[in-house]
Amino acid sequence: AGAVAYPSATVANVVCGFDILGFALNEPCDELAVYLSDEPGVHIINNDDYDLPTEAEKNVSGAALLALLDETPDVKGLTLVSKKIIKPGSGIGSSAASAAGAVVAANHLLDNRFSKDDLVRFAMFGEKVASGVKHADNIAPCIFGGVTLIRSIHPLDIVSIEAPPLHVTVVHPQIEVRTADARQILRQNVLLRDAIRQWGNIAGLVAGFIKGDYDLIGRSLEDVIIEPVRSILIPGFDEVKKLSKEAGALGGGISGSGPSIFMLSKDAETAKQVSLAMEQVYTRIGIDFHTHVTSI
Ligand code: HSE
Repeated sequence: AGAVAYPSATVANVVCGFDILGFALNEPCDELAVYLSDEPGVHIINNDDYDLPTEAEKNVSGAALLALLDETPDVKGLTLVSKKIIKPGSGIGSSAASAAGAVVAANHLLDNRFSKDDLVRFAMFGEKVASGVKHADNIAPCIFGGVTLIRSIHPLDIVSIEAPPLHVTVVHPQIEVRTADARQILRQNVLLRDAIRQWGNIAGLVAGFIKGDYDLIGRSLEDVIIEPVRSILIPGFDEVKKLSKEAGALGGGISGSGPSIFMLSKDAETAKQVSLAMEQVYTRIGIDFHTHVTSI
């Protein structure tokens, strides 16, 4: 007998909340099945064409499951069968889905003995394999659903944030941006005036979500610290933002460390118009792309 999880794609940062805010998309979702094994350790079977590592320590799901196994002395080994639907490297939390889905499925198998916070803790070991740093802004929304605030990771303090209905348009230009590189280029110091603007936006965004105030959400989707540095890695970024807003989007920006760009809209029809605007930009620039419209 095994247990299955369908972890969804997620959008980290939500523009101004670098490493502390994220939300889950309704789709796409991966499919991960976990089985008990008599062989010690974690065994990975990839059931897709992505050629991901099968050595547990080097595999995002494997590293997360090893962390879980460390705290389950009664379990000898686990076998994971992973089917990736969320394209690795697209910037919508593919690695987090692998890490989170594996431990969520394992937890079902083990009669839900672990809390969601425990699962986030295990899954972060997987995220470290993917990007070199433990961050939870994709993992937490993947495990908790909806919008989440990671107030702190040491100690872990995750807060679920209420949000009004929001439609999400995502464009994935077919270029490669490695999270590790996109973190490497960031400045280590910020100016006080930028910090003040940024925390005003973060507080405004969270307040906007909780109050269901779409205008406040739109005004707060501004990032003066990370986006100006990272957006140079994404051709067409400024134009996508401009045309998306003209098409009616509330706002948006880089999804996680990119290269995908997301935009939030109040209704599905606007989100569709936004996808047309995005398509127009990448068709003109001549970069292959993929757009999709979903919701939080
Ligand atoms: N918060 C992380 C970053 C998310 O922006 O580097 C990466 O998936």
